[in-house]
Amino acid sequence: MKRKQEFQGMCESMSLFFFLFLFLIVCNLVQYGMTNEVHVSCHMEDNVLYYRKHEESQFCGRIEDDMTIQEEINQLKEEKSAVILAHYYVRPEVQEIADYIGDSFYLSKVAAELPNPIIVYCGVSFMGESGCLLSPDKKVLMPDQEADCPMAHMVRKEEVDTARERYEDLAVVCYINSTAEIKSWSDVSVTSANAVKIVKNLPNKNILFIPDRNLGRYVAEQVPEKNIMLVNGYCPIHEAIAAQEIRKLKEAHPDAEILVHPECCEEVAEIADYIGSTSGIINYVTASERREWIIGTEVGVRYELEKRNPDNIFYFPETEPVCGDMKRITLEKVLEVLKSGKNQAAVAEEQADAAKLTLSRMLELSI
Ligand code: 13P
Ligand code: SF4
Repeated sequence: MKRKQEFQGMCESMSLFFFLFLFLIVCNLVQYGMTNEVHVSCHMEDNVLYYRKHEESQFCGRIEDDMTIQEEINQLKEEKSAVILAHYYVRPEVQEIADYIGDSFYLSKVAAELPNPIIVYCGVSFMGESGCLLSPDKKVLMPDQEADCPMAHMVRKEEVDTARERYEDLAVVCYINSTAEIKSWSDVSVTSANAVKIVKNLPNKNILFIPDRNLGRYVAEQVPEKNIMLVNGYCPIHEAIAAQEIRKLKEAHPDAEILVHPECCEEVAEIADYIGSTSGIINYVTASERREWIIGTEVGVRYELEKRNPDNIFYFPETEPVCGDMKRITLEKVLEVLKSGKNQAAVAEEQADAAKLTLSRMLELSI
């Protein structure tokens, strides 16, 4: 009898132990999941986008990998020895992760000098093409290949050919905001930061300036000794800046100086205290004691202006000048190209040599 009771007791403890063991396994599987799927969830906090990878696998349990997009970009950048360049018009969070931020001239110089094998170019397609031409041995990746500058296409080959037939000594000067094909028809490239200097120093009297009629007009005013001909290209964002809105801002803030980009129309340029490239505007503000400014260019410059001059106040036109193409570049797209190596900028072989010469002349002549 006693032995039977002992045996029953033993069986009870064994089944209790067995059920406890089974219970623990079930809990473990419920808690950690049984599949190999990867789920991603994200949330915003203090302007930082956090995302979380939940990797669930049958026997390893769940690995939670809490990294911000910024951290993952930085990690990949280091692993691949990549470098990120960004124009002042891209989103602030993209400027923040960039290694080099600047205007078109600064970025083209940096792209030509950097040793990194991969350049992620946060800007529009003509910038990627320029990077490609100046660094043919590097991989230039564009976070969004649809990001394009409409002005970069606004001249026809016939316009160039007609001017060349008419003037024997003609120099065709193209704004860097132009396709590689347009650069291949031209003699020298310029940016808004060096156009006046380069045109002034060219030996040619007759100049065809393409494609921006506003920058071209500004250069013609600064270099009256040359015969400068223009075509009809323009930046839709800068041309839309209305003189009326700038005047209204000046009436409300009489102490503010008006600083505008040369891509603005004539009426806006006429009421400006200073006309210059995006870096020109940023440097002008930074060097001044003044604290209030009316800015006539794309709103992306606000980020650098405020970073360098935190106690200054900047007024932009009520109809905000926003370049939708520049704003296509997002952190997610930067991460994606770093991961995949896709979206490589390229220039057609038949245009590359001539277009490269046009750009290299700019770098030589702006020293
Ligand atoms: P910068 O960068 O030369 O000032 O040019 C402005 C611009 O519109 C770039 O697309
Ligand atoms: Fe082109 Fe104007 Fe945009 Fe610059 S701001 S990329 S010139 S559309």
